[in-house]
Amino acid sequence: MEVVLLENAIEISRAVSSIIIETVRKKPAAVLGFATGASPVETYKRLIEAYEKGLVSFRDVTTFNLDEYCGLPREDKNSYYYFMKENLFSKAGFDFSKVNFLSGDPEEGESCCEEYGKKIAAAGGIDIQLLGVGTNGHIGFNEPSDSFSDGPFKVRLAESTINSNSKYFTERPMPAYAFTMGVGDIMRAKKILLIATGESKAKAVYSMVKDPVTPHCPASILRNHPDATIFIDRESAKLL
Ligand code: GLP
Repeated sequence: MEVVLLENAIEISRAVSSIIIETVRKKPAAVLGFATGASPVETYKRLIEAYEKGLVSFRDVTTFNLDEYCGLPREDKNSYYYFMKENLFSKAGFDFSKVNFLSGDPEEGESCCEEYGKKIAAAGGIDIQLLGVGTNGHIGFNEPSDSFSDGPFKVRLAESTINSNSKYFTERPMPAYAFTMGVGDIMRAKKILLIATGESKAKAVYSMVKDPVTPHCPASILRNHPDATIFIDRESAKLL
């Protein structure tokens, strides 16, 4: 695992977006794994800017998002589908027929999980997986547990995740369950880029980089990946 320390979130977004843009320019039909949350938002802005300037086309790119809340339809403002549509897909010329998402439907969602894993494999695997990290070390919605997951599954969210994310739910309570790609799906990506900024991530960053690899800090497994880079700022690097 490579650790890149940069001054702030803007510098990180420049570095991460350049890697994505370069990859897509070399391979226009690249498969990109995207993440939600505050961490990738600046990077998405840089991708939109590059698209607007005609520096890159995402038209042939296939995407797989990491996770979705259970019980939120796509049109719900809190769904991750809505988030991606607003923050990237509709503004950077993505082809929605190549956008893949886990279903948030409580019934359909579980049966879609297996299919989602197969779809990733059929697309040739993920070229770049973008990640954030939870304050408890989660990646996607893989919460700390006694073992690492493999394929996509339904997860009960940790108390700390509900505490961190419920600020976004102003009109309804935050769902207690979600569907997520498994740790195995993430680890099968050819390249992984993780963004962690701000003091609230300092503990997770320390565990990820320094503690032994353990499913109690799911992000620590990235140390076993041959091409994973974590981008941190001064605040999230504070405990290192
Ligand atoms: C969320 C998402 C993750 C995200 C993480 C950090 O719960 N499921 O994919 O990386 O938590 O979020 P943020 O970037 O807002 O700190």
